[in-house]
Amino acid sequence: MSEQAEIILEGKSHKLPIVVGTENEKAIDINNLRSETGYITLDSGYKNTGATVSAITFLDGEEGILSYRGYPIEQLAERSDFIEVAYLLIKGELPTKQQLDEFYEAITMHTLIHEDIRKFYGAFPTFAHPMGVVSSVTSALSTFYPESLNPHRGEEKIFLTITRLLAKFPTIAAWAYKHSIGHPVVYPKNKLGYVENFLNMMFSMPTDEYEIDPVVVNALDKLLILHADHEQNCSTSTVRLAGSSQANLYSSIAAGITALWGPLHGGANQEVIEMLDRIREDGGSVDKWIAKAKDKNDPFRLMGFGHRVYKNFDPRAKIIKKACDDVLNRLGIKDPVLEIAKKLEEVALNDEYFVERKLYPNVDFYSGIIYRAMGIPKDMFTVLFAVGRLPGWIAQWKEMTVNKEPIGRPRQIYVGSKSRDYINIADR
Ligand code: SDX
Repeated sequence: MSEQAEIILEGKSHKLPIVVGTENEKAIDINNLRSETGYITLDSGYKNTGATVSAITFLDGEEGILSYRGYPIEQLAERSDFIEVAYLLIKGELPTKQQLDEFYEAITMHTLIHEDIRKFYGAFPTFAHPMGVVSSVTSALSTFYPESLNPHRGEEKIFLTITRLLAKFPTIAAWAYKHSIGHPVVYPKNKLGYVENFLNMMFSMPTDEYEIDPVVVNALDKLLILHADHEQNCSTSTVRLAGSSQANLYSSIAAGITALWGPLHGGANQEVIEMLDRIREDGGSVDKWIAKAKDKNDPFRLMGFGHRVYKNFDPRAKIIKKACDDVLNRLGIKDPVLEIAKKLEEVALNDEYFVERKLYPNVDFYSGIIYRAMGIPKDMFTVLFAVGRLPGWIAQWKEMTVNKEPIGRPRQIYVGSKSRDYINIADR
């Protein structure tokens, strides 16, 4: 007999099944709770609630463990590349050489976006935040590929829809940047790899070819791997919820891009750099800003610190911090905010407020410093996060679709007015 939970409601005992995952995570299965007891559960922000069972990513917040399809993130960051990791997340297994070559070939053949889509960019103001542009253009892809509207067209056709999005997304992202600076867009080149193509579309000009630096390419590829998936975070849950209504892939991903934009989520990497610059301009007093972060009456938070799940070091932050040192040394860049970041981390990790609340640097704390060293403007930092997270969002949408999960529809507890009669305006 598998383990059960027992709750006593109004003197009556109810037994609920226990679900145990591959890594021994445990859950109380409440799928039948309301039909059996009339009760629902309440869990603001879903801090204690599992939305699904998934075979894609495992993370252990207490131990600081993160793996994609069972492969530790440290090994993938060291030995794999972003497109291979994308294949692993979406297909569930590492590709053979032939499968990977075919995947690369398919992606290379779909990097262009329709010229009519290029015209959209001219309609956005140059000051438009690129996240607003990228989410809009991504959703618009569904209007150019009407066959993508049906999520149940069989593996091969869905995989073409997926490949198109993976291939076009760097183009969509780079063109948002080019539009924001009033430069002509740069078209993808088939001879370039995925990351090289993105950097070339970002920084080449008709007057001057961007010189691709392998140090930058390798660091960006590693950053994309580290961002590729993170189980049921805010934006991924948004993709799954949108997709659960059988909305098409492109629109579901656009919903995820929008959720990622928030400063408490993917927008934090831009906020971190802006925070570090503020501290530098303010004279660099780390103690003053740590005090502000601890002050309940001060809205300031130490951006890039804290995490809903990691109550230990975010394993990605460790890898990014080392990559940060490597990239800046290899590029011969001295960024004063790096020293401020290291000092902030050192002071915070020894401060009772942060230790008590288990607040450690997260994935966003150092990534912005590397992006800036690469010449990426801070408005594009969250777009880079989206480029990295795309295969994870796709894999999670596909898993939810293939498993035919029900439409997501949470319940609530109503706390508004009791029933009352309408009063004519003359009598109010
Ligand atoms: C990402 O979920 C994921 O997996 C996300 C992500 C992914 O890969 O998808 O990992 C990417 O979003 C990383 C997080 C990026 N966001 C930031 O860096 C923004 C700064 N961090 C916080 O806003 C906060 O830590 C969150 C949003 C990340 C987590 O918030 P929680 O889990 O809701 O925790 P909380 O807000 O309830 O905080 C608990 C306590 C509170 O103090 P008390 O009320 O107990 O006194 O910790 C404090 C908070 O005030 N706190 C902070 C703080 N973060 C939490 N205090 C100062 N500075 C901070 N950064």
